[in-house]
Amino acid sequence: MNLNIILIPRQKLIDTFQASPCAMHQTDVMELSVIAKPELLKKIEDSTDNSCYNAPLIFVINTKKDSQFGEMDASVAAENVMVEAADLGLGSVYVMGGVFALNKFPELQRELGMDEGYETTVLVPIGYPADKEQVEDRRNRYKVVIK
Ligand SMILES: Cc1cc2nc3c(=O)[nH]c(=O)nc-3n(C[C@H](O)[C@H](O)[C@H](O)COP(=O)(O)O)c2cc1C
Repeated sequence: MNLNIILIPRQKLIDTFQASPCAMHQTDVMELSVIAKPELLKKIEDSTDNSCYNAPLIFVINTKKDSQFGEMDASVAAENVMVEAADLGLGSVYVMGGVFALNKFPELQRELGMDEGYETTVLVPIGYPADKEQVEDRRNRYKVVIK
């Protein structure tokens, strides 16, 4: 058994997802599947060319196909979850590549709990980091103008 999954405070991450803002109060634009069952994690890895780093927990964020806000809502929620994960000493990553692959497997998406009319927008694999992360100096990463 993977002990990592027992140690991950999943509900805290779900609460953080639920606390995320959404555009125009449209709370039905976004759905979340929280995947921890090993057989489903394997199916996701197999269907996405191993894009989820063999994480013991994957947040699958789905949004309404016709919504102009789906990508934005999902990205904000993903970042919320990732910030909370970092605070809990967990590693996580915003995965877009695997999304294109997963959207070609509607049967699997239904098995993961996705409703009709939705598509996967962001995958967030979460786990305990294998290595201690090197802290990079990012003070000049982006252009910032202060006037
Ligand atoms: C919009 C977006 C899409 C991303 N898609 C992927 C992805 O498909 N696969 C992946 O491994 N990382 C993906 N990432 C994560 C970046 O590669 C990530 O930021 C990087 O691994 C960490 O390095 P950084 O902190 O220097 O950005 C994505 C990040 C963003 C913001």
